[in-house]
Amino acid sequence: MSKARAYTNIALIKYWGKSDPLWNLPTTGSIGLTLDQLYTETSAKINDDLKQDYFMLNGQKTQNLKVMKVMNFLRDLTGDRHFVEIFSENHVPTAAGLASSASGFAALAMAASQAFGLSLDRKELSTIARLGSGSASRSVFGGFSIWHAGHDHDSSFAESILDPLNFDIRVIDILADKSTKKISSSQGMQLAQSAPNYAAWCSNSQKQIDDMLAAIANSDLEKIGLIAEKNALAMHELNRTAIQAFDYFTQNTRDIIAATKKLYNSGTLAFATIDAGPNVKVITNSENQSTVIETLKNYGEILVQKAGPGVTNV
Ligand code: DP6
Repeated sequence: MSKARAYTNIALIKYWGKSDPLWNLPTTGSIGLTLDQLYTETSAKINDDLKQDYFMLNGQKTQNLKVMKVMNFLRDLTGDRHFVEIFSENHVPTAAGLASSASGFAALAMAASQAFGLSLDRKELSTIARLGSGSASRSVFGGFSIWHAGHDHDSSFAESILDPLNFDIRVIDILADKSTKKISSSQGMQLAQSAPNYAAWCSNSQKQIDDMLAAIANSDLEKIGLIAEKNALAMHELNRTAIQAFDYFTQNTRDIIAATKKLYNSGTLAFATIDAGPNVKVITNSENQSTVIETLKNYGEILVQKAGPGVTNV
């Protein structure tokens, strides 16, 4: 049996659209920071008696098409037609609403490939994690990583930018809304691709990747935060201007973004980023963290995260 643990990551430059949904190739590259609090542990073992894969998530037998896709890929890759029993647990310190496909598929890529006897390097693991969920490609790596868009399975991989577990960055989740999302990220990005500004967002995102790489290399947290916030707000603007327009923001989301801007304007390093849901994450550092928490704790439960490690065996 093989068992792996992977942590969630937050996108500083977002992935928000597919050029090939079957292979999960993205329209743009993206940059993520793997975090240190929320993780998934997954074990996988070939079982000769099974007629299909057996997948237990948090103690419940689950049918998951994305898991099947990863397992079928591994069977095709190895020529081994066996089925696998997979046990996966999401470890979240607070209540529901935080479960993540990024940590889940990064852990599955490692555990399941090892169950088939493969010993893949991180780059290859990232391509397999990507088949399950795009953002999972980045959770294979610790710290900052980049997922290159690529043009086929092998060229669409993630790699480490910098894995400085002591990089002075904090990501503060303000958990205001714990309900599950109404529009999944896969659905959301498909809708967003109809926005009139979608092509402009993609080309802008390429420029933001270059600026973000420079900001990370210079340990310039203010630039990292400013670029990440701009990129995230533009992503959500796409959603509002899609042909079938939608919006993940709630009034609370807007209030937290406004409070974060106010903090920044009064000299605190604080920048908002938001994924496919209403919850805001604030990027800051150790020095400014207590000011941010003091201001935002009235809006929801607070979770503080630092840079975390890549996928490992446990
Ligand atoms: C907004 O990786 O969940 O968090 O590949 O369809 O499973 P699928 O999508 P997913 O999308 C993540 C979207 C995002 C931005 C990001 O993490 O880059």
